[in-house]
Amino acid sequence: MRMRKKKHGESRLSACSEFLFDFDGTPMTDPASRMGMPGAKVFLEIGAGKGGFAVKMAQKHRDAAYFAMEKVTDCVVLAAEKAKSVREGEIKNLKFVIDTADNLSKIFENGTVDEIFLNFSDPWSKLGYAKRRLTHKRYLSLYLNLLKDGGRLTFKTDNDGLFDFSLIETDEMGIVPDRVTRDLHNSEYMAENVMTEYEKSFSDMGKNINMFSFVKPVGFQIEIDESLRRDRKVYYPENIKNKT
Ligand SMILES: C[S@@+](CC[C@H](N)C(=O)[O-])C[C@H]1O[C@@H](n2cnc3c(N)ncnc32)[C@H](O)[C@@H]1O
Repeated sequence: MRMRKKKHGESRLSACSEFLFDFDGTPMTDPASRMGMPGAKVFLEIGAGKGGFAVKMAQKHRDAAYFAMEKVTDCVVLAAEKAKSVREGEIKNLKFVIDTADNLSKIFENGTVDEIFLNFSDPWSKLGYAKRRLTHKRYLSLYLNLLKDGGRLTFKTDNDGLFDFSLIETDEMGIVPDRVTRDLHNSEYMAENVMTEYEKSFSDMGKNINMFSFVKPVGFQIEIDESLRRDRKVYYPENIKNKT
């Protein structure tokens, strides 16, 4: 998402500091407790944009600790202001994490997240850019490690090509989605759907919305070829084997 630099971004952000995640440099072993909600479910959105989905989800699931990651600070300015504009003190379970998905394992300990949401991730359509897609195997393996056994990941996109790519990546990881639709808004899953900003504008244009969702199988482990670590070679997802 390209955005013009927000005027007074720093001061606007600090005015909403209650919605900003304060990273202490070590991965969280208990993210819900860090939000003052011990025992709560942990939801993680990656690429939260202007925060519409995060704010609505935090309101809908008040008993869950909701972390919304977004790498563009100016988006977080708008997102945090959106959260603050809801009646004073109403949202207590939402923090925006200003960082990139590449740093997820530095922020969350493995096996600490109940649900992950990827909404309208950038398609990176050009040849040679597949590795940047947030549903590339190298990211999927990160997410699978973060999820608890039985945890769920849900992905939505308007982009049919990215959807096909993501289904193939998932399949190659040995994961079978239990919910798949190429027309979310006319599907059985619509009743519990929460719309994002991108979703609304694409759907207003008449575009079908794709969605898949899967559960991490109990005992699922990602096996990384250790010789690659030893040799300090570049880490390629092709060297990942999964086992259940
Ligand atoms: C196309 S926008 C979608 C925004 C929002 N999810 C929606 O549906 O309205 C994709 C968002 O993902 C963010 N993003 C892309 N790559 C990211 C990464 N590696 N880590 C965190 N955020 C990322 C972008 O900055 C952008 O705000």
